[in-house]
Amino acid sequence: MSDENDFTHLAWNLNAELWDEKMGTEGNDFFRVLQLPYILDYLKSYPVNGDAPIHILDIACGNGLLSRKLAELGYKVTAIDFSENLIERAKAYQNPSNLIQYQVIDVSDPSSLQQLDDAVYDHAICNMALFDIASIEPIFEFLRKKIKPGGTFIFSLLHPVFNNSSTIKSVEEIYENEGLKEVFSVKISKYLSIYAAKGIALSGQKHPQYYFNRPIEYYLNLGFQNGFVVDRFNETSFKEQETKNTLSWGSNFHEIPPVLMVRMKKMER
Ligand SMILES: C[S@@+](CC[C@H](N)C(=O)[O-])C[C@H]1O[C@@H](n2cnc3c(N)ncnc32)[C@H](O)[C@@H]1O
Repeated sequence: MSDENDFTHLAWNLNAELWDEKMGTEGNDFFRVLQLPYILDYLKSYPVNGDAPIHILDIACGNGLLSRKLAELGYKVTAIDFSENLIERAKAYQNPSNLIQYQVIDVSDPSSLQQLDDAVYDHAICNMALFDIASIEPIFEFLRKKIKPGGTFIFSLLHPVFNNSSTIKSVEEIYENEGLKEVFSVKISKYLSIYAAKGIALSGQKHPQYYFNRPIEYYLNLGFQNGFVVDRFNETSFKEQETKNTLSWGSNFHEIPPVLMVRMKKMER
């Protein structure tokens, strides 16, 4: 493991309890509003119909919250994460119809990915984690071989343009239409650089983890090089959401999407 990957691994193990407490079975507002409805919509073209099971690889599954939602819908799920503590917590929940199989795998390491059995998958999903992973080339290379043609790789990101480690949120006042108006904006100073920066994902998180910042072209080009094309793309923001504090991602920032959702389709073997 690289030093950054070691640090990330330790951080996620140390934060596993807090992460699990905050995400539980329904997830936070980012999961419920900005990600899950899009993931389910992207999967609608591939409904479970009772014939051959549809097999999904849930990459960096955390406490298994998405895996459980998928299993409740009848999808067979292989759920992987490199945090032993998070996998232990995921296993402690109910396993709907026994459709989920959990495994500790470091997806930045090709030899760890080889420990997965010889299955090919209909789809892979990586929800809010590619930017948490020190090296993502091994995953894309793995998916090139392991996703069936016509299958998909669905992933969500902290929007690399608007919600990266250099983002500064601000509120300013302007005089407009004979009154004062608050204007919410973000300032970005770094977008094209590829760099790691420490941060926290949850309030109250004691141990920071790394964010691996990459521009959108980095992700898309890796997909293109590995036989995928983009066929669904959404930039998601809170429309009606109450803002917990003025500068949190809520309706004050409804014009600025904090999350990017992508579906890539596999074209070739
Ligand atoms: C923000 S959490 C997302 C968890 C889950 N997908 C969800 O939507 O709740 C990021 C996850 O990435 C995992 N992760 C980071 N680097 C990894 C790696 N190299 N291999 C496997 N999992 C990794 C962490 O352990 C953590 O569970």
